[in-house]
Amino acid sequence: MKTLIVPDAQAVTLLAADILSEAIWTQPNLVLGLATGSTMMPLYTEIVRRHHEDGLSLAGVTSFNLDEYVGLAPNHPCSYHQTMVEVLFKQTDIRPEATHLPRGNVSNPSTEAQRYEELITGSGGIDLQLLGIGVNGHIGFNEPGSSLSSRTRVEMLSEATRHSNRQFFTSENAVPRYAITMGIATILEARACLLLATGKAKAKAVAAMIEGPLSATCPASALQMHPNATVILDQGAASKLQHGAG
Ligand code: F6R
Repeated sequence: MKTLIVPDAQAVTLLAADILSEAIWTQPNLVLGLATGSTMMPLYTEIVRRHHEDGLSLAGVTSFNLDEYVGLAPNHPCSYHQTMVEVLFKQTDIRPEATHLPRGNVSNPSTEAQRYEELITGSGGIDLQLLGIGVNGHIGFNEPGSSLSSRTRVEMLSEATRHSNRQFFTSENAVPRYAITMGIATILEARACLLLATGKAKAKAVAAMIEGPLSATCPASALQMHPNATVILDQGAASKLQHGAG
């Protein structure tokens, strides 16, 4: 795991945007794994800016998002699908038919999870997967205790995750209890992973991910096994590391 520590959240965004833009310029038909969450929003704003001002084109890119809430239709204002449409898809030239998320409002979410996994494999796999990390060490919605060999599946959200995501809903009760998420093994198959973390609230999870044992207790620690994983941290997120950048 390559760890890069930069001064602040804005520097995290700019470095991640440099890595992502470079990947798209080099490989215009990139298969890109996307994440939602607050950490990613400034990155998408910066990619949209580069699309408009620097000519960065996503016309050849295929995207697969990590996860979606079970029970929310794609056009539900709180669905990850709708979020992605608003913050990235409709503001760039990515082809709508090349953007993929699990469908949250299907009658059989487990079948949908399997279909999604096969769709990823059928596309030739993910070249670059963007990731955030939960305060509990989750990646995607792989909550603590998730098998490190898990595949795309339905996962019950922990109370910690539902609490963190409450800000996007009218009440905590409105936060869905289940999500479809890429599994840890699915994520590890991406040819490269790029995880961003900002703020002190993430410091404990970040330290467990980088310096803790490989353990289902901190699902993000699975990235220690990935041959091409880069982690970009601001000072707050790096503040509990014992060994600094490595
Ligand atoms: C979102 C996702 C989650 C988030 C994580 C961090 O698609 O898969 O793992 O990346 O919960 O979320 P923020 O950035 O809101 O702290």
